[in-house]
Amino acid sequence: MKQEEITALLDDMSLEEKIGQLVQLSGEFFSANDISIGPIQKLGIDKKMVELAGSALNVVGAKETHDVQVRQMQKQPHHIPMLFMSDVIYGYKTILPIPLGLGASWDLEKVGEAFTNAADEASAAGNHVAFAPMVDVARDARWGRVLESPGEDPYLNSKFAEAMVKGLQKNLKEKQGQIACVKHFAAYGAVEGGKEYNSVDLSISNLYQNYLPPYKAAIEAGSNMVMTSLTTLNGVPVTASKELINDLLREKWGFNGVVISDYASIYELIKHGFATDETQAGKAALNAGVDIDMKSPCYSNGLKDLVSNGQLDEVKIDKAVLRILNLKNKMGLFEDPFYGASEIREKSSILTDSKRKLACQLAEESIVLLKNKDNVLPLSKEQKIALIGPYSNKNTLIGMWAIHGDPQDTVTISEGIKKYVPDLHVCKGTDLQRNREFLKGLGYLNEEGINKVVSSEEVELKNNYEAVEAAKKADVVLLALGEDTYEDGEAGSKTNLHLPKNQRHLIEQIAKVGKKIILILINGRPLVLSDIEDKVDAIVEAWFPGTEGGNAIANVLFGNYNPSGRLTMDFPYASGEEPLYYNHLSTGRPATNSQHIGRFVSKYIDCSGGALYPFGYGLSYSDIKYESIELSSSQITPKSRLEITVNLINESHWTTTETVQLYIHDEVASIAQPVKRLVDFQKVELKPNQRKKITFCLKPNKLLFYDNEGKEKIEPGYFDIMVGPNSRDVITKKIEYIE
Ligand code: BGC
Repeated sequence: MKQEEITALLDDMSLEEKIGQLVQLSGEFFSANDISIGPIQKLGIDKKMVELAGSALNVVGAKETHDVQVRQMQKQPHHIPMLFMSDVIYGYKTILPIPLGLGASWDLEKVGEAFTNAADEASAAGNHVAFAPMVDVARDARWGRVLESPGEDPYLNSKFAEAMVKGLQKNLKEKQGQIACVKHFAAYGAVEGGKEYNSVDLSISNLYQNYLPPYKAAIEAGSNMVMTSLTTLNGVPVTASKELINDLLREKWGFNGVVISDYASIYELIKHGFATDETQAGKAALNAGVDIDMKSPCYSNGLKDLVSNGQLDEVKIDKAVLRILNLKNKMGLFEDPFYGASEIREKSSILTDSKRKLACQLAEESIVLLKNKDNVLPLSKEQKIALIGPYSNKNTLIGMWAIHGDPQDTVTISEGIKKYVPDLHVCKGTDLQRNREFLKGLGYLNEEGINKVVSSEEVELKNNYEAVEAAKKADVVLLALGEDTYEDGEAGSKTNLHLPKNQRHLIEQIAKVGKKIILILINGRPLVLSDIEDKVDAIVEAWFPGTEGGNAIANVLFGNYNPSGRLTMDFPYASGEEPLYYNHLSTGRPATNSQHIGRFVSKYIDCSGGALYPFGYGLSYSDIKYESIELSSSQITPKSRLEITVNLINESHWTTTETVQLYIHDEVASIAQPVKRLVDFQKVELKPNQRKKITFCLKPNKLLFYDNEGKEKIEPGYFDIMVGPNSRDVITKKIEYIE
């Protein structure tokens, strides 16, 4: 449609119709399957308003979306097509590793391609908008949603935000893409104590420097939608924050797309103690700049009265509706309300060989080898191998937010390994969880369900016994352990980051047998491994690796893929260290290099502190030496560039991919600066015994920081330039910035 036609349509719409466009409801309202995540609540929405609703949440499938679209369009006076939006967060049917794993790949290009694949599958199934990318900076492993984020670093998350948005939206014109909806604006990742839905309180400089950049990068990459966070920021619920939505996002950043609330977050303004009732909540959100009300009755039940009693200017509603109509028009929905979706296309585009292949490559790249004592890995097919543990045969490798994925399509660990060792001995060893109270707390199992997943004492003893016997007969034991799917993701906050007691007990029993042990971890967050690390020979962090998980794990174990993943969140020594992140401030009494010795420094008295495995860390089967770094100058000015050359050598017979990381530290500034922060990286391939020089070009804008008014600053003075394979083991040189 031409813009004049859109405007004419808007002019012709009744107030109710316009309000309908601002309402998003889930499947059950349209007699469709409902697979939404979130609290179920009777909304008390008028039937008329349901008919006028402008978008649907998590209704998927070519047939389902087609039928709902036809029914709804018939009911609407202007036959306006609906937008179908859903949580395609890391794949639709071909499930990728969880985003924390994708982050560990540091592979922007492949992740972008994989998001293009996800959008292809989802659009073929009638889906228009992906509620992705989720790029909240995640510094606290207690927060279950770290699973959904690329990690703790603002720069890396920004790069992933860009790649993911571009990937999703790449083929929009061909009707094979999806609109990106970046979330959760803003700073959801900083929930106090890592507790889900908790408050966020941040200084302005911290907000601008560490939390806002990924959302901004997504907007700059063209994200057409933004989702607000469920939380407050400095006392104001983000969903009602004019300062954040209208003033910053729209006016300062120039975003002219659609803003959607998170699930019921407008209604929740009442619970926050910010609005007296649904009507006032709706008014606050609309005034702040939220266009679509996801799954709450506030807009549908309240906006009309607000307009008629003069509390709300209809022009504000018009503006929101226009943005939504423009988005529908951008997708060509007025001409083709089904956006090219069909059951035939759906069948032929999901889980294709090429999509599985890319998912497998990314799963391989996401795996982080945390320990490999005496090069126990890779394995050889000649060794006698026992695969033990609750994850050996499980197909639940796709993680909590893969709500459209099917575990049945997933390659299990034993299936992957059997391709190398057909007569593999496999046994369960123990349950995934045996703590019934804990399982109850996960909220998806009733008593009967718990009885199915927790074995009797007798069976548990038998499982343990079998595992020990299997270990005795093997040369190498693979222990596949980890977290339950529902321990991570939304509403999966935990205070204890250890593996469950029964799994640790199994490790101890197997360790007593004295065979080599390779621990394979399936989990969605950094775990505390300090108490088990010395009982095993190797640790393979595989995250929830997705549909191709079993194949990828096996390829890494048998050396068909030389591991290259690097952590994007710190792994702590103890849960009590959280939030733990590498780019922290120095404090006046740092634990090392302090003027004080002994007690009076910033540390915990009962824990060695810092990270067991830090940000950027990961081993490979190769041995890469960072010989030296050279700088083109020891000074940088506003107009100059600095070349940083790194000399690497691969002292092994393995071809390898090395992720070379560049960090800086501003020594003295008017706002204290992090001890180091990532400003660039390169993934480079090195052939056996190859020497390579790689060069970074540092522009002065990398030295910027934000003050407490949110303004960018660079101050003259000295900076450390650090290069290394991770955030801990770096070579440092000093430069001076001169104005
Ligand atoms: C989550 C969002 C999600 C939405 C729709 C909410 O509970 O916070 O991330 O996109 O539900 O399913």
